[in-house]
Amino acid sequence: MTWVIYKIKYCIYFYGRNINYSTMKKIFLLAVTAMLFASCGGSDDTTQKERIPAEGVPKALTNESGQNAYDPEKGEGRFQSVDVGPINVAKATMGKNIYEMKCQSCHKLTDEKLVGPGWKGVTNRQKAEWILNFITNPDAMLDKDPELQAQLEACLVRMPNQNLTDDNAYALYDFMRQNDAK
Ligand code: HEC
Repeated sequence: MTWVIYKIKYCIYFYGRNINYSTMKKIFLLAVTAMLFASCGGSDDTTQKERIPAEGVPKALTNESGQNAYDPEKGEGRFQSVDVGPINVAKATMGKNIYEMKCQSCHKLTDEKLVGPGWKGVTNRQKAEWILNFITNPDAMLDKDPELQAQLEACLVRMPNQNLTDDNAYALYDFMRQNDAK
C-alpha cells in the first residue's frame, strides 16, 4: 500500500508544475484500482490464514480433553472393565509368591506403613480396575490420581513399575482379596 502512495507523491513531485486535470484524474484512478487489488489480495490471505487454525483448534481441544479425562474410580491403563469373580485360590498363591519377590520390601499385609502403605483393606478402598491399572501402570497414575499424590507426599517414594503381566496383576489382586478376607 505504501508504495502506491509513494508513487503518487513521486509523480506529483516531478510533474506537479505542469500537471493538468486529466493526468491528475488518471493517476488518481490508477491509484484507487491498485489499492482495491492490493486490499482484496490482502483480505484473501488473512481469511485463508485464519481459517486453518480455526478448524484445527477445536479438534486439538477435543483430543486433549479426551486424553486428559482421568477417571479416579478406575484409574488409567489397560484394565477398563474387569469381572474378577470369586477369589481363585491357586491364583492367590501365585500372587503371594510374586508379593514376596517384588512387593514385600515396601508393603506389609497389615495396615501399617513400610515404604508404601500397608495392604490391609486396599481391595475395599479401591475398585479392581484401579488396583490392576496402578500396579501395571504406576507412573501415569502417580501423575494424575489425587489419592496417590497424597500417598506420595506421605511416603516420599514413587512406586516403581515392576513390569507385571496381566496374569501377575490378577494373581496379586486375588492375593490382596484373600488378605482382606482374613
Ligand atoms: C520401592 C517400594 C515399592 C515396591 C517394591 C512396591 N510398592 Fe507399591 N507402593 C509404594 C509406595 C511408596 C506407594 C504409595 C504411592 C507412592 O508414593 O508411589 C505404593 C502404593 C501401592 C498401592 C496403593 C495402596 C493404597 O492403599 O492405595 C498398591 C495397590 C501397591 N502399591 C501395590 C504394589 C504391588 C502389587 C507391588 C509389587 C508388584 C508393589 N506395590 C511394590 C512403594 C512400593
